[in-house]
Amino acid sequence: MEGGRRLVIAGGSGFVGRALAVAAADRGYEVVVLSRRAGVRVPRARVVWWDGRTRGAWVKELEGAEALVNLAGRTVNGRHTREVLREIDGSRVETTRVLGDAVHGCVVAPRVWVQAGSLAIYGDAGDRWCDEEAPLGEGVPVRTARRWERAFAESPTPRTRRVVLRMGLVLGREAGVLAMMARVVKWGVGGALGSGRQFVSWIHVADLVRVVMRVVEDASMSGVYVASSPEPVRNAEFMEQLREVWGRPWVPRVPAWLVRCGCWLMGTEAVLALTGRRGDPRRLEEAGFTFRFPVLREALADLYGGGERRGPARVGVPGPVWAVKVR
Ligand SMILES: NC(=O)c1ccc[n+]([C@@H]2O[C@H](COP(=O)([O-])OP(=O)(O)OC[C@H]3O[C@@H](n4cnc5c(N)ncnc54)[C@H](OP(=O)(O)O)[C@@H]3O)[C@@H](O)[C@H]2O)c1
Repeated sequence: MEGGRRLVIAGGSGFVGRALAVAAADRGYEVVVLSRRAGVRVPRARVVWWDGRTRGAWVKELEGAEALVNLAGRTVNGRHTREVLREIDGSRVETTRVLGDAVHGCVVAPRVWVQAGSLAIYGDAGDRWCDEEAPLGEGVPVRTARRWERAFAESPTPRTRRVVLRMGLVLGREAGVLAMMARVVKWGVGGALGSGRQFVSWIHVADLVRVVMRVVEDASMSGVYVASSPEPVRNAEFMEQLREVWGRPWVPRVPAWLVRCGCWLMGTEAVLALTGRRGDPRRLEEAGFTFRFPVLREALADLYGGGERRGPARVGVPGPVWAVKVR
């Protein structure tokens, strides 16, 4: 190992992985990204090919690594045909299983494995707060999220500390879902979706990266954590704030049937827009983690403050990587 502590990011070529690679490299880690795409480039990282299903030369990157972060998975943003659903599930379960096998086979296993998960596991949870203890929901996205966590829980890696992050909607200029919503707002049809009462649990990508670095470096943290800001908002408010940041006027609510048509036209699933949950990052707060962007207005201002003319998002994390509340 040339660069000291190694942090391996499976599926690190995407939106979250790129932000994490920069932040980890800034903190002195040698960053290795596992990608299925030969030749893909990730700033500040060395990219190593894997197929996401079988062991190969990539396995040696885990030997003696400080941390493994698994972000791999086909996006859920798309039309959920049976075949796509099989791929969404398979891309999560198979990558997790083969990583588990690889970690198990290490002479010196990674100290910590941080696994992406999703708040979708709580289903359409209405107004109740969803902390780590909250009951899980029902439906297709829930089944995917449960299989993903089960594959992780079943991995035979007793020498490695393990953390699952149930992530809310990650906000960043490069985020696919937010870009889609911004497009809708700019078209002038960014009213509240459906009833507008469903909660959107969100997290600024810079905070998510700080969460990951915190759990990597804090040996006292393990198990499940809700990774979303402490102030989720209803969809109506989320859309209103998006309109505000893009300087668009009020528009009427979009009824659920129209959302379904719109989602179909945009090649995505209405369930992603019409259902919601109210994430409560109780365990992160108990661990003393403080969010740099607890409030949506500030998060959007940071990302879009200069409107369309502004340059790429600041996903790197300047200054201290996290601020720890002293209790
Ligand atoms: N962004 C969010 O709002 C959000 C919210 C909750 C949970 N999550 C989860 O967090 C993880 C990271 O999110 P992200 O926004 O960074 O996702 P992303 O941009 O879509 O990146 C995910 C990465 O997974 C890899 N991948 C895609 N299909 C795969 C397959 N069939 N087999 C193996 N690897 C595959 C890709 O890497 P290569 O093509 O280079 O192999 C891709 O770069 C994802 O698993 C996502 O589901 C994200």
